[in-house]
Amino acid sequence: MQARLAIVSAGIVWLASTALALSVTGLGRAQEAKTTASRSVWDGVYTEDQAKRGRTRYIQACASCHAEDLRGNGTAPSLIEESFSFVWGEMTVWELFVQIRTLMPSDRPNSLPSQSYRDIVAFILQSNKFPPGPTELDAEPEALRQIRITAERREGSRP
Ligand code: HEC
Repeated sequence: MQARLAIVSAGIVWLASTALALSVTGLGRAQEAKTTASRSVWDGVYTEDQAKRGRTRYIQACASCHAEDLRGNGTAPSLIEESFSFVWGEMTVWELFVQIRTLMPSDRPNSLPSQSYRDIVAFILQSNKFPPGPTELDAEPEALRQIRITAERREGSRP
């Protein structure tokens, strides 16, 4: 009797721990879905027109130091290719936007309208070969925080 009870209760413990393990796995999946639901720069987060406006702004406000081809000069760093992904990889578009608005142009920071800074960010994304899409970069900080800058095309853009 005693032995049988022990076996039964061991069975219950086993069942309970299995259920726990299952629900933990379920939780893990939900978490993963949440992460992949957030967007990345591969999801078409700016428009062609926005990047075009951004280019005009860039030429006026940034090209004197960072060069027309974005490759920089002696002191201002390149804003494309390795130097871009090295510094900005795994950050968000919001962080890029804030950094540029706060520090650039270095001789007169925060001197452009927010819209211009967003357009310039769109142009920088286009110059780094991230694809355009149907909607412009959102004015909402929260929306920009959802967009990760990543070299990995598949990340964040899984169906
Ligand atoms: C007067 C020269 C000058 C102008 C104009 C200028 N920058 Fe810069 N920029 C610099 C210098 C110098 C640095 C590097 C030192 C620093 O971070 O302050 C820099 C750094 C940066 C960085 C950080 C790069 C990195 O990889 O860390 C970004 C992004 C940037 N600039 C974007 C812009 C944009 C966009 C504009 C136009 C709105 C602009 N800059 C205008 C001189 C300039």
